[in-house]
Amino acid sequence: MYVLEACHSHIRKDDVLHKNSESTPGQVSLSFVLTELKEQNKLPTLQRLTLPKDPLYGKSKVFEGFYLKDFLDSLVNYKIFVPNQTQVIFICTDGYTSSIGLAEILAKNPFVAVHDRSSPDGGDWEKVREQTGKLISPKPFYMVWTQPDAQNVREYPWPYNLMTIEIVPNQLAYGASYPKNSKTYGEGFFLFKNNCMSCHSVKNVGGNIGPDLSAPNNILSRWERKELINFIKDPTKLRPNTKMPASRYLNDADLDKIIDYLDYMGKKE
Ligand code: HEC
Repeated sequence: MYVLEACHSHIRKDDVLHKNSESTPGQVSLSFVLTELKEQNKLPTLQRLTLPKDPLYGKSKVFEGFYLKDFLDSLVNYKIFVPNQTQVIFICTDGYTSSIGLAEILAKNPFVAVHDRSSPDGGDWEKVREQTGKLISPKPFYMVWTQPDAQNVREYPWPYNLMTIEIVPNQLAYGASYPKNSKTYGEGFFLFKNNCMSCHSVKNVGGNIGPDLSAPNNILSRWERKELINFIKDPTKLRPNTKMPASRYLNDADLDKIIDYLDYMGKKE
């Protein structure tokens, strides 16, 4: 569905980040513009990496760049962030964003490519065709993962045209849509964020292609739970002309968690 379009996230930074978020004292976020750091020679020493099958190019590539963890370790102040309560947000030159938890970054240590060293014409970046058919260059930065289980571009961000990295506590990143007073609904929130938030908002945070799912009233006051699950599985069964796509990547347990989250947000927070 949303594979490898620009930054492969469809949530514009302005739609999601910082909107509606009240700053809690002691909660700060960090922002780094990679192009500026490069000019100031503040990036870690570059090294080479060979990816046997890069998902953007669909073939073996050699990049020069640095491991993100080396960059984080060079910052004095990132250790104030609690890894499993923090998002690392990748902002691309077109303003689109993708994100993943800091804990996952520390565990899997992605690589930020600064140069393409396998460009056939010796240029800085080999051009590549996007899903949309457009021929683009991934410059200025392209982040890749080396682990086999991170090759899934649906679950892991592979941002190209990457420009800025932000480290943001979950509560600040997702403002009112984040279930900050409950530990139970965190997983449902992240499933919602990854699969629904590009089109739907909760508490006014998120995309606006589909309706807000927490207002004007709890979605579960209008829908039977079972009916809702069937609709999300295959929206065209209920509404033949719907613009909402079937959720191909979610199982029943995931859908239950998303609906628990929506129910909770519709009632409590
Ligand atoms: C590509 C955009 C898109 C995505 C992704 C998407 N939806 Fe939708 N959704 C829509 C649109 C547009 C509608 C509006 C009604 C229609 O076209 O049927 C809608 C309608 C709905 C409705 C009915 C709302 C109402 O007021 O009756 C629910 C519930 C819903 N979506 C839940 C979800 C959930 C949960 C997910 C994630 C698993 C999701 N949607 C993912 C676009 C999307």
